[in-house]
Amino acid sequence: MGYPAKVTVVDVGPRDGLQAEPGTVPAAAKIELIDRLSEAGVPAVEAGAFVSPKWVPQMADTAEVFAGIARRPGTRYPVLVPNMKGLDGAIASGVEEIAIFGAASETFSRKNINCSIAESLERFRPVAEAARARGMKVRGYISCVLGCPYEGAVDVADVVRVARALDEMGCYEVSLGDTVGVGTPVRARAMVDAVSQAVPAERLALHFHDTYGQALANILACLEAGVATVDAAVAGLGGCPYAPGASGNVATEDVVYMLDGMGIETGIDLESLVAAGVFISGALGRTPASKAAQALTAGRG
Ligand code: HMG
Ligand code: MG
Repeated sequence: MGYPAKVTVVDVGPRDGLQAEPGTVPAAAKIELIDRLSEAGVPAVEAGAFVSPKWVPQMADTAEVFAGIARRPGTRYPVLVPNMKGLDGAIASGVEEIAIFGAASETFSRKNINCSIAESLERFRPVAEAARARGMKVRGYISCVLGCPYEGAVDVADVVRVARALDEMGCYEVSLGDTVGVGTPVRARAMVDAVSQAVPAERLALHFHDTYGQALANILACLEAGVATVDAAVAGLGGCPYAPGASGNVATEDVVYMLDGMGIETGIDLESLVAAGVFISGALGRTPASKAAQALTAGRG
């Protein structure tokens, strides 16, 4: 199989990126970031998370952020929802797409959402059902698909099992999270090949953190397997508060630069995307972690 002609990029920076920031990022900066990403042509921008503010205080202002963004027609703005309370918050904010998030590792599940994998799936089922009954789209995440920060190796059979469960709940897409970024291309590809026996590759997404610098290589290997959706974070923001040491998602700028160079359509204007990354990095007092952004901004002062 060759590469897809078109790839859907989901920018998770405003959620996955900013949830891991030690300081508080003002809602106004989050709103400007989300609007800049949608204006750059990013088709889906993960806008926040309706999770417990005790667990992740950085996402406590999601309702305010959601109320402040200029929703572009055609752009999707998914938010994370772990339970019914989160769904209520999402509904009150007029959210049209939620993401439920499980894991392939028991210890990570406990640390992240305070329950076992089996309990989480039982908890997600009515959430997905209620969301779909209201016409909302439901995306499913699986963390630790290529390794766990607590348990180390993860059995691919567990990834397949959770993917099948999320699919059966009506998730239109299952996003495969290499939470700690430990994967390498041949293993990433083998994992995707195994999961795509249960959920077709066209309904899988790649969500690779770049801790070991392997994310672009892993993405390339998995695009060849027929996956055509890639999660990334502008400026390479982020990590996960429950995956110590994990660095941000692969930078969206680097993904778009690679796809542009391969003639694969994304609909994203790289220059505007780079500007969005420079904006949020400035708000955080640093420069973008993206190599493409660094190269493209070099010499521009
Ligand atoms: P718990 O403590 O077991 O829940 O947490 P609880 O039901 O006992 O509630 C505890 C308190 O939280 C209560 O408040 C609830 O009302 C409140 P209190 O009575 O003590 O004042 N609460 C909520 N508040 C707002 N919104 C809610 C909500 N739910 C309960 N939805 C829970 C269980 C799931 C709530 C908690 O563990 C949690 O919020 N976890 C979220 C953790 C998180 O957001 N992690 C980062 C995102 S996942 C990720 O980054 C991985 C990903 O990127 C993929 C990858 O890279 O692998 C997606
Ligand atoms: Mg993540």
